[in-house]
Amino acid sequence: MEKPLLYSIIRRPKQWSVIILLDINNLTKSFGGLMAVNDVNLHIGKGEIVGLVGPNGAGKSTLLNLISGMYRPDKGSIVFMGTDITTTPSHKVCKLGITKTFQLVHSFPEMTALENVMVGALFGDPDNGNMNTAKEKAMELLQFVGFSREKIYLPVKNLNLMELKYIQLARALATNPKLILLDEITTGLNPTESQEAVELIKKMRSGGISVLLVEHIMRVIMGVSDRIVVLDYGEKIADGTPEEVTNDEKVIESYFGEKYVF
Ligand SMILES: Nc1ncnc2c1ncn2[C@@H]1O[C@H](COP(=O)(O)OP(=O)(O)OP(=O)(O)O)[C@@H](O)[C@H]1O
Ligand SMILES: [Mg+2]
Repeated sequence: MEKPLLYSIIRRPKQWSVIILLDINNLTKSFGGLMAVNDVNLHIGKGEIVGLVGPNGAGKSTLLNLISGMYRPDKGSIVFMGTDITTTPSHKVCKLGITKTFQLVHSFPEMTALENVMVGALFGDPDNGNMNTAKEKAMELLQFVGFSREKIYLPVKNLNLMELKYIQLARALATNPKLILLDEITTGLNPTESQEAVELIKKMRSGGISVLLVEHIMRVIMGVSDRIVVLDYGEKIADGTPEEVTNDEKVIESYFGEKYVF
């Protein structure tokens, strides 16, 4: 049964109205005495690309793990398209339309590239998995991410980092996400490869997918984000357009070190 449309609509003066896809309130997670995510409020609008930045250990991956249901928060709430997913386990969060790639690439090393993506397609198929449809979809997505056709039948243990990242991305897309959480997909890639990744992120948005992107490479984050959120010691210290955030004194002090020049 279709859920009632509960997403709130924010009207901003002189701006278009934004349909809220993900709404996070007062989210908190600690590990022992360490506050990894501290009272964070954050929303992501439909069709938005939001960049999440901050120094090492700022809580970016933890926040993504909370959203994707891998961790349970100590406090706060996460609402996705009107459904409270604060304590929903990750496989169910994925079925609802949120998927995540990992900072350290995960794969099934003995399986081929195609099979690795088929896993996502089979999991994301509402009819519970037809092998032929999954294969077709996996082929299409490998092509979409620009994966070399000659390598689709190779075991992924023989592939390089860029190729593994593309497979991970294709597998995530195969689950039919409405929101994709990307944790440092360009880390370890050369400038040409990172630029290709930026183009892919833009293509995903054109395909109707919203994106929350963790990234350390400023050229990438500035080039692709509609909005940037900055975490520092688990707390959100800024949330605004790339221009607003790069002019923010607190952000310059805690993250950039000096003013970022576009
Ligand atoms: N599972 C865990 N158990 C204990 N501490 C953790 C765990 N996961 C993260 N932490 C700690 O929480 C803090 C935030 O870590 P997190 O990985 O979210 O940071 P990050 O912003 O993603 O950093 P990086 O840029 O280095 O990837 C760090 O101090 C980290 O050591
Ligand atoms: Mg991280």
